[in-house]
Amino acid sequence: MTGEVPAYGSLRDRLASILIGGSAVLAVLLFFVVRGYAAQVAQEGQDSILSASVSSILDAAVLRDGAIELDFPYASLSMLSTASDDRVFYAIYEDGTLLSGYGDLGDTPAVAGDARTFASLDYDAATVRVATASRTLIGADRPRRVTVRVAQTQDALAETLNQISRNVAMFGLGFFALATVLAYWATSTTIGQLSRLTTSVTRRGPQDLSPFLKPVPREMVPLVGSLNTLMVRLEHSLKQSEDFIVEAAHRVRTPLATVRSYAEATFQRVQEPENRTALRAMMRAIDESSRAAGQLLDHAMVTFRAENLEREEITLDAMLRDLVERMTPIAEMRDVTLRLDSDGPAVLRGDAVLLQNAFRNLIDNALKYAPVDTAITVRIRATPQLSVDVIDEGRGFSPDEIDILATRFVRGHDAEGHIGSGLGLTIAKDVATAHDGTMVLSNTQKGGACVTLRF
Ligand SMILES: Nc1ncnc2c1ncn2[C@@H]1O[C@H](COP(=O)(O)OP(=O)(O)OP(=O)(O)O)[C@@H](O)[C@H]1O
Ligand SMILES: [Mg+2]
Repeated sequence: MTGEVPAYGSLRDRLASILIGGSAVLAVLLFFVVRGYAAQVAQEGQDSILSASVSSILDAAVLRDGAIELDFPYASLSMLSTASDDRVFYAIYEDGTLLSGYGDLGDTPAVAGDARTFASLDYDAATVRVATASRTLIGADRPRRVTVRVAQTQDALAETLNQISRNVAMFGLGFFALATVLAYWATSTTIGQLSRLTTSVTRRGPQDLSPFLKPVPREMVPLVGSLNTLMVRLEHSLKQSEDFIVEAAHRVRTPLATVRSYAEATFQRVQEPENRTALRAMMRAIDESSRAAGQLLDHAMVTFRAENLEREEITLDAMLRDLVERMTPIAEMRDVTLRLDSDGPAVLRGDAVLLQNAFRNLIDNALKYAPVDTAITVRIRATPQLSVDVIDEGRGFSPDEIDILATRFVRGHDAEGHIGSGLGLTIAKDVATAHDGTMVLSNTQKGGACVTLRF
């Protein structure tokens, strides 16, 4: 049973969008913060030059014969020259009355107070920065208050700011691109851990219920822990049902054997044909049941041993020769010749009990389904790949059934009249699979059945 789990969103997309969205917000924030700071520093630079210019003009102001005289120092305006040819305006006031310059350069300054002020205003179709400062000249009659105002357009400043903005924008874009790459890398490595776990779960064989012991990131420990608990519970319940089958088969087989011997003894004694027929049917039913119990027992044993395969070095030819020798008396009873054909020593690392069981089932089938006076060949090939064929000279597998005969409890049409439970090929196939091998059913050219186990 495979459960199709509905997907709800994607962790990778969610992580990536959070990281990429976060870095986009950071990049924009970075742009505005750096640009704002640069604007402030540039403005402070312009203010300090304007302030120096105002100071140098104020310093040049003198009171001569009761009148204010002011010789503009050359440096006071030349220090304001910029690469963008910014325009410079000035205004000089005496006690709030314009003496010289542009009177419309902001409000008329107050007479009192000597704070140095800076302001930005629109003037002559441009934004200008205005610095204003005052100085009191002590005359013979009364003190005079001189106020100097110098203004400058901000073309150079704007140009500098634009350049800084461009650079910061480039930097922000670079930062964003790098953050995106890092976000993808971070999500891939994070999600990679999950994918690795998924791969190791899917790569496991259906029998492998051992716990996951490879270290995983801390956040995944509870998940893997639950998975392991589930495995333990599953293994436990599998083992329980396995034990149950073994126990049940044992309990059934022993009384069946007793009943079989009673039935046989009775059969020898009774003469009436209908009694003999009934007893024969009874013995057959007992044989069926005890075969089924035996095969169930073997199947349970194969399933259990396949899970924890004991691998030892096995010489296949020696093992099969022994098996053939032991089965020869049964073959002789049916006038069937059992042959072993080997092209050299074939060595396999595996479970001898399981392999014997598998081959016994295959030879048993050949003996059961092939007619009398024929031969069964067990052929071992060590090269190019280790394989064993069990070939008989019977009717072979019927093509419409060949694909399903190795399924549990499935028997073919030709099985009618033969005692069996449909587990022999399943056992052989499970043993091959447990040894990382395969089982293939085919028919020979003469029509006989050929079962190949490849390792
Ligand atoms: N050598 C063979 N020649 C022809 N048919 C075969 C041969 N071996 C197996 N089959 C067919 O495949 C079916 C499945 O074989 P399998 O060994 O699994 O079960 P079984 O022999 O019927 O019962 P048991 O579990 O007692 O072995 C058989 O019922 C039979 O129809
Ligand atoms: Mg069989």
